[in-house]
Amino acid sequence: MSEESLLALRHVSFSYEGEERVPVLKSVDLTIEKGSFVSILGHNGSGKSTMAKLMNALLLPEEGTILVSGIDTRDGEMLWEVRRHVGMVFQNPDNQIVGATVEDDVAFGLENMGVDPQEMRKRIDEALHAVGMEKYRTTQPYRLSGGQKQRIAIAGIMAMRPSAIILDEATAMLDPQGRQEVMLLARRLNREEGITIINITHFPEEAVFSDHVTVMNAGEVLMEGTPHDVFSQVERLQAAGLDVPFAVRVRHELAAQGINLPFVLHQEELVEHVCRLLSTR
Ligand SMILES: Nc1ncnc2c1ncn2[C@@H]1O[C@H](COP(=O)(O)OP(=O)(O)OP(=O)(O)O)[C@@H](O)[C@H]1O
Ligand SMILES: [Mg+2]
Repeated sequence: MSEESLLALRHVSFSYEGEERVPVLKSVDLTIEKGSFVSILGHNGSGKSTMAKLMNALLLPEEGTILVSGIDTRDGEMLWEVRRHVGMVFQNPDNQIVGATVEDDVAFGLENMGVDPQEMRKRIDEALHAVGMEKYRTTQPYRLSGGQKQRIAIAGIMAMRPSAIILDEATAMLDPQGRQEVMLLARRLNREEGITIINITHFPEEAVFSDHVTVMNAGEVLMEGTPHDVFSQVERLQAAGLDVPFAVRVRHELAAQGINLPFVLHQEELVEHVCRLLSTR
């Protein structure tokens, strides 16, 4: 593990309590660098949420070790430190709101930490500013859109001054606009505030901006690398029941027709290459 690793999973195995104890994670190795934006892809039941819960000590590994900024998640005395370091946003925006107003909601975690009122005020202001929701301070959360609710959930985490935020399918229940709002926010917090982002998603388009992509399959790491490394293996991904970004898929299908374009991840690049090709014909 390098100095810069924020999170390290070493040979981590896990199964839920029960009669059968089917392994849900099988000797997973994964390193997440400080300040990076990483995506975790994988079909239903591949173990992504279980991995997320292991990363902030909501679950503990059955075998292997998980280090969060060097702290072993098994260290009971450091439990709250680990959870403060690694915040988690879940899929359903309605299940995460606890406050009667937006600011109450953001204050919730700080109150539990025993932060004094003046410091709390400052942190709420900062957090609402960071997620672009200052105007909604006194709004009742049920009046917000799904995307806005997720941004409030992120503000609640930001107020705790985390090192990392795990988004566990945090955009899955949102409309395209809400999805874009949350993704733009995550990218901005990563670039401008240096927050490590771990984005668990079903949408391959969300992964194209990542520094690193990990693909899970049946409790194991199937592939990992840059978006280019991973998404250039279209057939392997499709065999694992996974989609690839639109531009990658179109390029792949054109190649099958004998039209070869350079590798692209983004639609804009694809359009450029197609236009260039058409103009030279
Ligand atoms: N609390 C639990 N008790 C028992 N089994 C569980 C529990 N939570 C998840 N599982 C099982 O563990 C496996 C992995 O589930 P997990 O939720 O980690 O997958 P996932 O990749 O997040 O799936 P999805 O894409 O549907 O969110 C599944 O087979 C699931 O049924
Ligand atoms: Mg899940």
